[in-house]
Amino acid sequence: MKTLILIGLLVVSALAAPKSGYEEFELAKKCDKELCQLPNCRCSSASIPGGFDAKDVPQLVLLTFDDAVNIANTDYYEKAFDGKVNPDGCPIGGTFFVSQEYTDYSAIHNLSARGHEIALHSITHQPPTDYWKDLSVEGHMKEFIDQRDLMSNLAKIPKESMQGIRLPFLQLSGNNSFEMIKKAGLKYDSSWPTSKYLWPYTLDYKTTQECPIGPCPTASLPGVWVVPMIYWWDDNNVQCSMVDSCVNIPNDVDGLLKFMIRNFENHYLDNRSPFGFYVHAAWFGRHENYFKAYLKFIEYLQGLKDVYLVSVQRALQWVQNPSKLSNLKNSWPNCQARHEYTCNKRVCELRKGEEYRYMTICGTEEDCPEEYPWVDPQ
Ligand SMILES: *[C@@H]1O[C@H](CO)[C@@H](O)[C@H](O)[C@H]1NC(C)=O
Ligand SMILES: *[C@@H]1O[C@H](CO)[C@@H](O)[C@H](O)[C@H]1NC(C)=O
Ligand SMILES: [Zn+2]
Repeated sequence: MKTLILIGLLVVSALAAPKSGYEEFELAKKCDKELCQLPNCRCSSASIPGGFDAKDVPQLVLLTFDDAVNIANTDYYEKAFDGKVNPDGCPIGGTFFVSQEYTDYSAIHNLSARGHEIALHSITHQPPTDYWKDLSVEGHMKEFIDQRDLMSNLAKIPKESMQGIRLPFLQLSGNNSFEMIKKAGLKYDSSWPTSKYLWPYTLDYKTTQECPIGPCPTASLPGVWVVPMIYWWDDNNVQCSMVDSCVNIPNDVDGLLKFMIRNFENHYLDNRSPFGFYVHAAWFGRHENYFKAYLKFIEYLQGLKDVYLVSVQRALQWVQNPSKLSNLKNSWPNCQARHEYTCNKRVCELRKGEEYRYMTICGTEEDCPEEYPWVDPQ
């Protein structure tokens, strides 16, 4: 009997041993506000960083776009962003969660040169969602860290400038994608929807966020930031995590603008948690008024002295080092970095299985990959 128990214990401890040399992370505990302090730790909560009053802090607005960047959408981006500045005089900026297929890397270079944030949205973006749900830490490395190398090599942008990810289909996989963020030295995830008006927080401690598209992480992952995707509510009060998934919306410009302002005011007139306008450029192609309303909405925001349209990275800078509207230089000593356009455009013709694909990169013939970038099946 004793030996049986002993064998049982041995088997259990063998099963619990870390897989493939990766360290095990501890189960996250209830957040301790004394121990968890900015700039590198924040409990998940709706309270305003720095303890300021809502009227004293900037309303951060995150304009983000997902998927491939190419000639089908760069015009929209130019019209939405170019020539506009925030109340502090710095150019407005957005975040692009780029997936590799059909991306034009010279356009990525250009967006980055203009001060936008380039973030990772995977190499394959392949269905089904179960692929992402079951993907291991190593699998996430291939999808996101190999993509970071690819972008840095093909678009000629610094590796360190890419710090965030959004998971395809917003499909979480428990701890795995967050462990990948930690191990690869990335900074944040923005894939996790919520109905709570949470400010960004870290995974050092147990989250208070609900888990609509689980499994959600439960491990303690110090320094990994979550930028929650706070729901919008459509005109029938149905929630949507991306604006293009809101179903019951008007299609006239005035009605759309009201719908956008109503959702914005859920943040602006409350705890000023960052307001995300998360969308795919493809949405603008669905109805001619969608883009018109988007531009009107940006114009409306530009009329408000305490509203800042910034990249996710820049928003996190403010959260980590919060300051009052009257003192914003404390959080943001400089404008978002920009650089010269130095891309030598080149079109590579690359084999993908049985077909050939054209891909525009920055570089010489030698910079063309050997085949169309993809991830080997697990
Ligand atoms: C996440 O990590 C914690 C702590 O190591 C562990 O208890 C939990 O089972 C993990 N979750 C999943 C889905 O593997
Ligand atoms: C870079 O983007 C801007 C718009 O944001 C556009 O006017 C310009 O032509 C682009 N430059 C190149 C070389 O593609
Ligand atoms: Zn996507």
